[in-house]
Amino acid sequence: MARLIVGNWKMNLNPGEASVLVHRLEDKLAAKSDTEVVICPPFIDLYPISKELDKKKLTLGSQNIHYLDEGAFTGEISPAMLKGLVSYSIIGHSERRAMGEDDKLIAKKVAAAFRNDIVPVLCVGETLADREHKLSTKVVIDQLTADLAQLTAADVAELVVAYEPVWAIGTGKFAKPDEVSPVVAAIRQTIEELYGEDGAAGLRVLYGGSVNPDNCAAYLKLPGVDGLLVGGASLNYEEFAQIAKVAQDLK
Ligand code: 13P
Repeated sequence: MARLIVGNWKMNLNPGEASVLVHRLEDKLAAKSDTEVVICPPFIDLYPISKELDKKKLTLGSQNIHYLDEGAFTGEISPAMLKGLVSYSIIGHSERRAMGEDDKLIAKKVAAAFRNDIVPVLCVGETLADREHKLSTKVVIDQLTADLAQLTAADVAELVVAYEPVWAIGTGKFAKPDEVSPVVAAIRQTIEELYGEDGAAGLRVLYGGSVNPDNCAAYLKLPGVDGLLVGGASLNYEEFAQIAKVAQDLK
């Protein structure tokens, strides 16, 4: 399966800065590759970037969506507005869960994405306390089961799930590959149990949490891992391009 490298810029870079980063990144990226490289800038950057992006090198994603297509929701952006503009949307990121998003809301957002031809990059992951209590796999399976409640097997076949242990995000304390493997296996097994082999066949699973050019290969080589969700390093065009190159060059 083609690899997927997703950059989550979080709340960084205005449109001018975003344009500079995109051009520098494109200069470093290979033109043709099986690996899809996605950037998820803040909403305000999406439209201007879409006008200048080299679509052979980069794909656009959003960092969030609303669960409805329109309505009286001051300050929100709907998936219907993003339809055609972005191909992916990060949903259920732990930074949004920490602001109060629960699995019920996330399930509605995942369904809203599919309704608007946007592929969700659904984020799941345990806290440090969960891990210390040996609950990583249980927490992730519970999140997954609740977040996918409204989907059909055909939806799930397109889905991207990002395993991002909360304690590894932005901390430099990346998860060891042997800590990632059992959780990734549990994600795949859960999807297969819920949606059958057909549903599970197209599923792509990413790892995220303090990914950098030095540690990325170890995750990409793990069975069942199809790519990476990169935060801090995606704001550095040299590092992000290096990560993409590692993914492109791996057999
Ligand atoms: P860092 O790569 O900065 O740890 O962030 C990971 C992340 O949250 C990506 O969504």
